Amino acid sequence: MSLRTFSRADAQKPIKSSIHGIINSTVLILKHRLKASESRPAVEIIQNYDELPEINCFPGQLSQVFMNLIANAIDALEESNRGRSFEDIKMNPNRITISTAKSNCEQYVLIKIQDNGIGMTQEVKQKIFDYLFTTKGVGKGTGLGLAIASQIVQKHGGSIDVNSTLGQGSEFVIQLPI
Ligand SMILES: Nc1ncnc2c1ncn2[C@@H]1O[C@H](COP(=O)(O)OP(=O)(O)OP(=O)(O)O)[C@@H](O)[C@H]1O
Ligand SMILES: [Mg+2]
Repeated sequence: MSLRTFSRADAQKPIKSSIHGIINSTVLILKHRLKASESRPAVEIIQNYDELPEINCFPGQLSQVFMNLIANAIDALEESNRGRSFEDIKMNPNRITISTAKSNCEQYVLIKIQDNGIGMTQEVKQKIFDYLFTTKGVGKGTGLGLAIASQIVQKHGGSIDVNSTLGQGSEFVIQLPI
């Protein structure tokens, strides 16, 4: 079912879909990157879901947005784990928090994806949505993820914003019209 949600990217018309359903299937697809390894405990995923109406959207494309944001969060967590021991990480665990809410005017849904990873400098923050901008090594990042994500969100009439503090973490906020 997760893959089906993901692969409906080519749908011609928007489909009424559950944002939570799309997020859940995306998390499921990324499960292999969240589980414990020799060097770190499993990444904690906290889901704070508000009650949301279904929205008219392209679910396969939104799934790509969430996939890119969560994959980036995992990369940022792995980066922050450098030089830390398993025990140290266990005491202050890698965590991704996904929260949803309806805007006060009831016209938008808000989706926040927050991590306690490496964070970013002011300089990096200004460029992250640029086409081909990456701070990751050759073969690791192409710098397409956020450019594509922002294009998809805009196509849905929404917006995407970022808050971040170097060394503390980042938060991406997506707003989509109901
Ligand atoms: N959650 C995050 N924490 C810290 N830095 C981030 C985060 N998300 C994005 N970035 C920064 O933004 C840059 C651009 O991200 P983007 O997803 O567009 O490309 P990428 O992850 O480098 O490559 P890919 O095309 O594989 O996604 C990253 O290289 C990284 O420096
Ligand atoms: Mg990326």
